[in-house]
Amino acid sequence: MNNDIKEILISREQIDAKCIELAAQISEDYKDKKPLLIGFLRGCVPFLAKLMDHTEIDLEYDFMDISTYFGGTTQSDTYKILKDLDSDITGRHVLIVEDIVDTGTTLNIVLPDLLSKKPASLEIITLLDKPSKRKHNITPKYIGFEIPDLFVVGFGLDYKQLYRNLPYVGLLKDHVYK
Ligand code: IMP
Ligand code: MG
Repeated sequence: MNNDIKEILISREQIDAKCIELAAQISEDYKDKKPLLIGFLRGCVPFLAKLMDHTEIDLEYDFMDISTYFGGTTQSDTYKILKDLDSDITGRHVLIVEDIVDTGTTLNIVLPDLLSKKPASLEIITLLDKPSKRKHNITPKYIGFEIPDLFVVGFGLDYKQLYRNLPYVGLLKDHVYK
């Protein structure tokens, strides 16, 4: 275990099993629909990859980079589009792939823009859900794990850009924040 980690909240094995389960559900729900998976950089990468590893249907994926969060533990209300989609989502079955839905601010900003392009459908899948922190009415259709109001790192989630590569989701030791 990484020296800065106090506790593993969700193990690699739990993540693997959950991704197999979610991928089976998506393969069923999106059979013959050629969905477009949209990931928000950079946190989505491990989850998107593992999910696709187990998804046995035709699909495409694309990325967006929207900055609403500047590497600390508090949420900023401002945002910027750093990288927009390359794909045309009109008429497509869009599935947004998130690492975590916390306050819902990111999705609240981007959903109206995506919906205005008239996708055939638009749903959200998130590895982690922190419903206790929600400020906006965002409801993911597919949820990996519901977690309490704790700051977590690993499997895509960072603190100051570190720990994204950990194969589990965990809590940082207090000294890291000092
Ligand atoms: P939102 O509050 O739903 O907009 O979440 C925005 C982003 O905040 C997420 O995509 C993460 O990048 C980041 N975030 C929220 N909670 C955590 C956490 O516990 N650890 C690391 N990043 C987080
Ligand atoms: Mg994110």
